[in-house]
Amino acid sequence: MRIRPATAEDVAAVLELDRRLFGSDAWSEQSVREELTGPRRSAVVACDPAVLGYAVTASAGDVVDLQRVAVRPEHRRRGLAHELLAAALEHSEADRVLLEVAGVNAPALAFYAAEGFTEVHRRQRYYRDGSDAVVMERALR
Ligand SMILES: CC(C)(COP(=O)(O)OP(=O)(O)OC[C@H]1O[C@@H](n2cnc3c(N)ncnc32)[C@H](O)[C@@H]1OP(=O)(O)O)[C@@H](O)C(=O)NCCC(=O)NCCS
Repeated sequence: MRIRPATAEDVAAVLELDRRLFGSDAWSEQSVREELTGPRRSAVVACDPAVLGYAVTASAGDVVDLQRVAVRPEHRRRGLAHELLAAALEHSEADRVLLEVAGVNAPALAFYAAEGFTEVHRRQRYYRDGSDAVVMERALR
């Protein structure tokens, strides 16, 4: 397994995995292409050589947003998301990382807490299913 920068050649594999993991909230093919190769993005994939997971950040001045981190279910709890997040943030010059996650997404909340993120804001009933959006933050340096 290795982690490397994502390229346009990863669009199909990431699209397939994103649809499997996020269902009706999945990115469109155009969004995947923009997230993997667009300006101000840092996108990495873990591969063996099939894509096992991916992470994307978007920088905006002193803040960098974590757009996605996702790992194939059969490859979880092996530190892959930890490595993907570190790789996506490696060259960031931001002061802090922000993300938004559904309050019902227990695995992601546990992962972000383990990564040192803390809740800074909660948007009540933000999602279509009535669940809250939790905004979390972590200092970068
Ligand atoms: C959240 C997600 C990315 C974590 O991926 P992962 O590769 O399993 O995470 P890691 O192995 O790096 O976990 C690091 C630590 O986070 C915590 N953690 C991760 N998943 C957890 C879970 N399901 N329950 C409790 N703690 C968890 C643990 O402390 C873990 O360390 P440990 O395994 O030594 O106990 C993965 O569950 C996933 O892809 N979920 C679906 C997509 C998603 O919701 N992404 C987030 C929103 S964009």
